[in-house]
Amino acid sequence: MPMNTMPKSCHGAGPYPILVLNGPNLAHIGLRQPEVYGSRGLEDIPTLVNQLMGERAKEIELSFYADNSEGALIDRLEQARAMRVRGVAFNAGAYTHTSLALADCITWIGIPVVEVHISNVFARIEPIRRQSFMGAHVIGMIAGFGLLSYALAVQALHAHISDCFAEQEKN
Ligand code: DQA
Repeated sequence: MPMNTMPKSCHGAGPYPILVLNGPNLAHIGLRQPEVYGSRGLEDIPTLVNQLMGERAKEIELSFYADNSEGALIDRLEQARAMRVRGVAFNAGAYTHTSLALADCITWIGIPVVEVHISNVFARIEPIRRQSFMGAHVIGMIAGFGLLSYALAVQALHAHISDCFAEQEKN
């Protein structure tokens, strides 16, 4: 694993607390523009995680939070740091493309974050959707798989955290 993607500390063993964090206009996914975002709601994420990860889903502890405001998202990320959350699957919605404040927060809290998008932001009409303020500060990005993007992000975080422990054991 390249050093710049290593979390600052792996802390103790699992189950690993992972936060699924959603920004503006995402709480009502399923109703919002189903032609773009599909007809499934955020409440389907745990089922998708279980289907994708099988037995390994028991090694993680998911929590969920959604808010429309930038400040509340920053507060929740800071709280995640204080509570030693091990990874964040974060769909910042439109703030992805505009928020230096969220990018700054991701940088300092030191928790591995995977940027999530339901739609393929690179295939959308508006050029600004191809820009991410967060992109340089996250461990990776998953976009375009509908609601499955969240489950893939959680799986990636699980693998990342497990790798971190494996590295720690070696040293
Ligand atoms: C989104 C893509 C963003 O461009 C948009 O503003 C959203 C949702 C997605 O999940 O595809 O609100 O993050």
